[in-house]
Amino acid sequence: MSRGTELTYLLCAVGFILALKGLSGPRTARVGNLVGAGAAVLAVAVPFLTLDLDHVPLMLAAIAIGSAGGVVGAQRVQMTQMPQMVALFNGVGGGAAALVALLELQHMDAATPWFDVTATVFTVVVGSVSFSGSVVTFAKLQELMTSRPVIFPGLPVLFGLGLLTTVVLAVACVRDPAVLDGVLLALLGLVLGVLLVLPVGGADVPIVISLLNAFTGLTVAAGGYVLANVTLLVAGTLVGASGTYLTLLMASAMGRSVANILFGALRGGSTLGAGEASDRPVRSAGPEDVAILLAYAQRVIIVPGYGLAVAQAQHTLRELVDLLSERGVTIDYAIHPVAGRMPGHMNVLLAEAQVPYEQLIEMEEINGEFKHTDVVLVVGANDVVNPAARTTPSAPIYGMPILDADQARQVVFMKRSMRPGFAGIENELLFDPRTTLLFGDAKETLGKLLGAVKAL
Ligand code: TAP
Repeated sequence: MSRGTELTYLLCAVGFILALKGLSGPRTARVGNLVGAGAAVLAVAVPFLTLDLDHVPLMLAAIAIGSAGGVVGAQRVQMTQMPQMVALFNGVGGGAAALVALLELQHMDAATPWFDVTATVFTVVVGSVSFSGSVVTFAKLQELMTSRPVIFPGLPVLFGLGLLTTVVLAVACVRDPAVLDGVLLALLGLVLGVLLVLPVGGADVPIVISLLNAFTGLTVAAGGYVLANVTLLVAGTLVGASGTYLTLLMASAMGRSVANILFGALRGGSTLGAGEASDRPVRSAGPEDVAILLAYAQRVIIVPGYGLAVAQAQHTLRELVDLLSERGVTIDYAIHPVAGRMPGHMNVLLAEAQVPYEQLIEMEEINGEFKHTDVVLVVGANDVVNPAARTTPSAPIYGMPILDADQARQVVFMKRSMRPGFAGIENELLFDPRTTLLFGDAKETLGKLLGAVKAL
């Protein structure tokens, strides 16, 4: 490899690191994304410029098809569908790494250093797990199949046997590499990926996506080692490390350990799919009543959630908040770390509506304020204010830190029905005497609320 190529690869690696740094804050995320994309394009271009490659037209055709799919997919995807898009991209990455490793296995024999074969076999197996697991998570989130846990008798035994067979075959393949063993390992990996994700339901699916993302990173890193490609090694390690870190952060924001999420999911006992709508009586009101409540309050806190994103009501919400601020109401947004369906979901959504960052207050900082708050307006959120997280050990969200909305003088929920949130459980706060429900689609109801406050 020439000095120029080495330096270009180093530049790409620095680009990936700077991209991650940029992506860690809302102000710099856009630039970070562009830097990462630029580094990726450069890394892909280098082999074309420096190596004597076979099948160039085929490769260019594959790149064109992949790029077209990526551009169209990214333009069409709704913000609320982002987790399944990440799952799909991630799965394709894992699958590609497994295929490349299978091809490399063809050139290996008993004389190949054992570490090289081990890295290759690892890539085949884990890449296949990541591919099939990601496809199932995509199908669950896209509602192409039930999002409830899928469990059948003997699943843990089957999973255990599959794992054992994979390890035995992998050891045999490392001792005496053979493509047929590689293909069998890939098939076993595909089955294990499906068995791993099928029992996961409800709130755990996005965490499993993040975990599979970390798996893909590790396979890409191992692939980089096999192909002696430093950029792949660095990029894969970064994805592996950041995916692992994100998994840990999400698990701790939900008050669960990763082991509990994985093994609990396998047992099928710790996660839920969609629950039933409650028919218990609640107190509801119209936009005019809620407008009076908000306009004459001194301190208001907005709790945004998944429903705000579904309704695309962020712009109308911002208008309402601006209007109330002009009337002298002190008002902020309380941001729960897992509100919505992906990390930073509410920050991204509200940034899109040009809400100033200073108005977005993180959970730890704002929780002390609820007891001095006149009205909490919960817009399309549910689980993140559900006191069952504190009081009900059997609840799937038990232990998850929540926003202390129940400590405010009045709580207004904006939602369409009495259906539960993502975790599929009832929220006692909806039935509290201090709570009022304003039923309807968030965008529509916020529009009416805005009109009613203006009319005061
Ligand atoms: P949820 O608990 O899912 O509640 C969303 C609420 O929005 C529901 O009560 C729903 O009620 C309402 N809604 C839906 N569409 C609406 C619309 N068009 N207009 C008005 N309301 C609407 O949301 P949350 O409080 O944001 O909690 C997030 C959940 O996702 C947590 O359980 C969290 O653990 C899980 N999760 C999050 C992440 C990340 S990283 N963010 C990752 C994994 C899991 P109706 O159907 O009655 O309208």
